[in-house]
Amino acid sequence: MCGIVGYIGHRDAYPIIIKGLQRLEYRGYDSAGVALYNEESKRIFTVKTKGKVQDLIDKVELNGSPFTNLGMGHTRWASHGEPNDVNSHPHLSNSGNLAIIHNGIIENYEALKTMLKQEGFTFKSDTDTEVLVNFIEYVQQKENVKLGKAVQLALNQVVGAYAIVIFDVSNPDEIVLARLGSPLAIGVGDDEYFIASDATPFIDYTKDAIYLEDEEMAIIKRGTAIQIRKIGDDSIITPNVQELEFSLEQIEKGGYEHFMLKEIFEQPNAIQDTFRGRLLADKGIIRMAGVDDNIDRFLNAKRILIIGCGTSWHAGLVAEYIIEDLARIPVEVEYASEFRYRNPIINKDDIVIAISQSGETADTLAAIKLAKANGAFVFGVCNVVGSSIARETDAGAFTHAGPEIGVASTKAFTTQITVLVLLALRLGKEKGVINTTDYYKYLYEMMAIPDKIAEVLESNAFLEEIAAIYKDATNFLYLGRGYNFPVALEGALKLKEISYIHAEGYPAAEMKHGPIALIDEQMPIVVIATRKGHYDKVVSNIQEIKSRKGKIIAVVMKGDTIVKNIADHTIEIPETFEALTPLLTTIPLQLLSYYIAIMRDCNVDQPRNLAKSVTIE
Ligand code: G6P
Repeated sequence: MCGIVGYIGHRDAYPIIIKGLQRLEYRGYDSAGVALYNEESKRIFTVKTKGKVQDLIDKVELNGSPFTNLGMGHTRWASHGEPNDVNSHPHLSNSGNLAIIHNGIIENYEALKTMLKQEGFTFKSDTDTEVLVNFIEYVQQKENVKLGKAVQLALNQVVGAYAIVIFDVSNPDEIVLARLGSPLAIGVGDDEYFIASDATPFIDYTKDAIYLEDEEMAIIKRGTAIQIRKIGDDSIITPNVQELEFSLEQIEKGGYEHFMLKEIFEQPNAIQDTFRGRLLADKGIIRMAGVDDNIDRFLNAKRILIIGCGTSWHAGLVAEYIIEDLARIPVEVEYASEFRYRNPIINKDDIVIAISQSGETADTLAAIKLAKANGAFVFGVCNVVGSSIARETDAGAFTHAGPEIGVASTKAFTTQITVLVLLALRLGKEKGVINTTDYYKYLYEMMAIPDKIAEVLESNAFLEEIAAIYKDATNFLYLGRGYNFPVALEGALKLKEISYIHAEGYPAAEMKHGPIALIDEQMPIVVIATRKGHYDKVVSNIQEIKSRKGKIIAVVMKGDTIVKNIADHTIEIPETFEALTPLLTTIPLQLLSYYIAIMRDCNVDQPRNLAKSVTIE
């Protein structure tokens, strides 16, 4: 996720901002920039670069930074427009008077951009942020108001999520910030204020912090108290200054012990971000530019081939069930590493979907090149904007999960599935496979998924207890059917990756063809038994396990009584459509692996022998 740093006070802002950006490096980013108010020229000094904060420092040193006590810096994780110098933040308005940094996504930026172009505004970058700063300037000029008021009026017309910091050279004694959906903290010093995405950049300077709430904005003026208002109705909020008690490391991990746990808990928000601007349930619209622009290709496709590695391959398996079910297009899923080396049959009217969190996996990249060389249209589902796979594919949809730092993939998996569900629904509707009533039901149910995931996350403490019982097991079996067979594979992979316990995932019905021989009283078996999808058959499997004294950890739907009576432990998930159950059933499996790994003293964020991004074959 992007990092924000701002300063207004009496010290030289530049070193404070740079140190702050370095502190935020853990969040992941692809470019960096600063905007400093130059008191001599009364202009804004801006330096931006693709790459690391050190690249930014080198570039600033070439130009020589002016002394300033007002400035801002940003580390960007690209969402609109590839990572390059121009798309990096800060962005200036057309007059050069306003400088802005922004985290989040402005959903209606295209409509605003069209309007601004008609008003004579021009744009250098591909970003939604440059649209926002010019929209604020437009409002400021049109309404003849000060910056704070212009920000407020503009934000009331913006759809999306944001944390912004903005200042105006014509009033260098003031800095304005606002938040909706992306965090912003203000460090309160002695006649000075520090602004940042979290408290890590200013913890050395002050322990007093104000956390801006959603829909709030702050106007900070030199020499006066900070003013906080509601963006919507202008009401004044009394600032709540809190004393920081966290260590630096705790703040980086958002108070969680590990990035993996943080990322597991981020899933409700990550999925919201995947939806943002795409899923308009009230209007019955699913909008994804990469699909919209190529809709005929998708509708005429005779076959979809899905390729990926590791967890991304599992997301592909879930997609196979969903796309065949909801859109009735034949789907084949293959490991990219196999596909690239086996002379596969690829037709010109096939669509190849390449799934990759990092966008850099060497096997997936090579498989894409092979598919393209054979004339296929390749659609990417990536998390990292500007990555090699995102650039190599003909079109695609980003998952917008934010940086995933834990090596074991969690939020990338559920956001990949989210994108693929949206794709399946869009195609199913266009092809007339899903009727309008069911289509709407799906859209509303998708909207409800983040809250349902939040509900599943409440089983956290219970899963910790289960983990304590089975942490010393040497083998685990994971069983699921239909949509939840790939979830069983993913559950087993998570456990292997981070706890080094041997685990296998199987379709429940295949148990009788082999794994049943392994079952004894030492063997924990995780069974996904949602009331949908061959429930009775899975119940029979559970009984077979029980009669062989295996220990059953079952993931069931709320209100289940049958499995509850047989299983040793049951974790409930809320009711949802069968096709969407993987988004919920995955969560307890992630938590179980996490706690088992911790109890075995394993390094969950960086497991032995594994890499986050595998750029070699
Ligand atoms: C590595 C990672 C996995 C990931 C796989 C594919 O093995 O450790 O978590 O699922 O690569 O990575 P990708 O970035 O292509 O999704």
